[in-house]
Amino acid sequence: MEILRSITELRNRLARETGIAFVPTMGNLHDGHLQLVKIAREHASCVVVSIFVNPLQFGVNEDLASYPRTPEQDCAKLETAGADVVFMPTVEEMYPAPQQIMVEPPPIADQLCGAMRPGHFRGVATVVLKLFNLVRPTVAVFGKKDFQQLFILRAMAQQLNLPITIIGGETVRESDGLAMSSRNAYLNPAERLEAPRLHRALLQVVQAAQSGQHDFAAIETQTEQYLTQLGWIVDYIAIRSANTLLPPESHERELIALGAARLGKTRLIDNIEFAL
Ligand code: PAJ
Repeated sequence: MEILRSITELRNRLARETGIAFVPTMGNLHDGHLQLVKIAREHASCVVVSIFVNPLQFGVNEDLASYPRTPEQDCAKLETAGADVVFMPTVEEMYPAPQQIMVEPPPIADQLCGAMRPGHFRGVATVVLKLFNLVRPTVAVFGKKDFQQLFILRAMAQQLNLPITIIGGETVRESDGLAMSSRNAYLNPAERLEAPRLHRALLQVVQAAQSGQHDFAAIETQTEQYLTQLGWIVDYIAIRSANTLLPPESHERELIALGAARLGKTRLIDNIEFAL
């Protein structure tokens, strides 16, 4: 496995590859990330993983400075997982000049997580397009844990005619149901015990919808109140179309329950796809 930090080295190393599967990350890798590497392995002879904490996608009051950075451990895990190339650029390498050309994501980027994090998906789409142009993969793998991100990046690939197949990997969870996330490291022991409740609450949302309760707004509000009473600061609980991420039309059967909520200073997100 090669660890490359400069764009020149990366381009030279990848020039001779015919098929590349790419997994972009911000590092502090866990089994969720490694699952994506495993999927990537099945799709191309060369697997590239990037580790880059992208300032463009963090809001001014967010955790850019404190985001966990563990490059040595990450590279050891990637070696075992079978990555061929790790691209770990500096901020200066990725943004030698202020990034003024930006990818304008679709309107859905202003809803759900985007409503709480203005500009977030613009920053994500812009860095991912830059990384795509550097790595030039045939396949790119993203996690369903960040379903809205996957949705927006699929739309970007389609609408900008990128010659890249976007693959979604299932959410990898801890044994108690908590979705794995680099941000779980921020949780204190009491918060860690409470954290799986977000997933359990979403399972209850799914059950309510599937048992014939048609008033989705009521389910959402009840679940938000339930979590709030238990000390969570809820950003949203939402039942949406899994195909558009918009509030579902009455005929839609492929749905998704999504939630974002904070425990102390840690913001957690999760979702469950389901059918009616
Ligand atoms: P990061 O949070 O490091 O996540 C990298 C990839 O891992 C994303 O596609 C994310 O959805 C996936 N992932 C995270 N937790 C997962 C889990 N528990 N199960 C399955 N997949 C999981 O997402 C980003 O970085 C950035 O926004 C990025 C796309 C790299 C752009 O900067």
